[in-house]
Amino acid sequence: MSIKKSTGEEIPIEMHKTRMVQKIWLTPVEERLQAIEEAGYNTFLLKTKDIFLDMLTDSGVNAMSDNQFAALMKVDDAYAGSMTFYEFAKSVEDILGYKYVMNVHQGRAAEHLLAKVFCKDGCVVPTNYHFTTTRAHIELAGSLVLEIYYDEALKTESTNPFKGNMDPQKLRNVLSKYGKDKISFVRMEATTNLIGGQPFSMKNFREIRQICDENGLLLVLDGSLIGENAYLIKQREKGYENKTVAEIIKEMCSIPDIYYMSARKNTSVRGGCIATNNKELFDKIRPWLPVYEGFFTYGGMSMREVGAMSVGLREMVDPSVAGCSVEQIKYFVKRLKETEIPVVTPPGGLACHLDAMRFLPHIPQQQYPAGALAAALYLASGIRSMERGTISVDRDKEGKEIMADMELTRIALPRRVYSVSHIEYAVDRINWLYKHQNLVKGLKFVFEPPVLRFFDGRLKALDNWGKDLADAFKKEIGDK
Ligand SMILES: Cc1ncc(COP(=O)(O)O)c(C=O)c1O
Repeated sequence: MSIKKSTGEEIPIEMHKTRMVQKIWLTPVEERLQAIEEAGYNTFLLKTKDIFLDMLTDSGVNAMSDNQFAALMKVDDAYAGSMTFYEFAKSVEDILGYKYVMNVHQGRAAEHLLAKVFCKDGCVVPTNYHFTTTRAHIELAGSLVLEIYYDEALKTESTNPFKGNMDPQKLRNVLSKYGKDKISFVRMEATTNLIGGQPFSMKNFREIRQICDENGLLLVLDGSLIGENAYLIKQREKGYENKTVAEIIKEMCSIPDIYYMSARKNTSVRGGCIATNNKELFDKIRPWLPVYEGFFTYGGMSMREVGAMSVGLREMVDPSVAGCSVEQIKYFVKRLKETEIPVVTPPGGLACHLDAMRFLPHIPQQQYPAGALAAALYLASGIRSMERGTISVDRDKEGKEIMADMELTRIALPRRVYSVSHIEYAVDRINWLYKHQNLVKGLKFVFEPPVLRFFDGRLKALDNWGKDLADAFKKEIGDK
């Protein structure tokens, strides 16, 4: 949520108080240099003892509410038939409107099951934008992901409120080219993680549904960030300003055939689910659940987390939860725009995204500007962000590098974790870094895993630029 100051300025306001805390440290810049060198210039490989603000992701690191902690204790722990599962199923029906639900251990497990059941060799999955794990599962199952966003989606500087929309004409073109039998399903992601957390509009979702209906296509919604997408629809789409986030989420969920989510985000627990109102589809997926995840009433999650997810689902429709990171991101982006830092606009859900190709225009894409910027930001601030660019795209079958559509450095805002003063600190260090952009150079892989290389890959700084940047920081700002 946000609040207007007497000056008229709007600032994010936390509609919760902190009742449990974790201490964090800001290590001196020499130690940060050593840490990033040891991590192979990959922020995933840093240890949290060396991190000040962990803005790598919003996944599995959100603050749970007091009621969620209470739910952890009240759980009915049983291998099979737990009443906690049936309470969860009731929350799903009340909040999302689905009669059939199964848990999975996290979002990618849902993707694995959906790809296993619906993707066939030589088929395609059109999407408003892929997520890394989604693409991996769809491709492993033999289908191909087709990105069919509007061209505007890749413009980092834009005022388009719905850059997450799917282009209906491109979907019709896919139909003409491949034929409906070759389309495994159509996938909409709310909000689009890899292109700046951008939402889609309800109008667009309905247009896509219409095309799916005309052609008998299955429509799947990845609702991992549905709360933020709904909050942004309320703020940006005509006709929705007076609807509640709860109503908007219910309406969004009434559109697809199958819904899935990572629970690590909106519901602040570690898990996920697949839900639908179509029993036939549900029955196609269900037999695979015990093979890969676990028995039907726990699906790879601990019962404690299922109980907390149930509460988390009911809480995520509250604007103070759905809008918590959105308002912080909006403020973060506004502050960076004041000094013309290249940042993705409009602000979306999930994170503040720096446009690394404009931030570090001297680094060619082959030398991974977004990865270099994530490492440089860590050196200059102790903040851990994440590369969302070419490092996050695996090579093709021939081993050729595939250049990402965008080179973004994602600074995530986990829900209910950080404050405005943390954002102010980040803004200051990003400004310092921008003034020293020429000290930052590219990266080169020294170890490259074959799949999802961004997780475990190790790189080195070309011309040892990490040391130059750390020296400049120490000279101008001091140890910390
Ligand atoms: C849109 C989207 N889908 C799927 C996933 C995968 O979820 P998980 O990390 O729980 O496996 C993520 C994770 O970040 C995501 O953002």
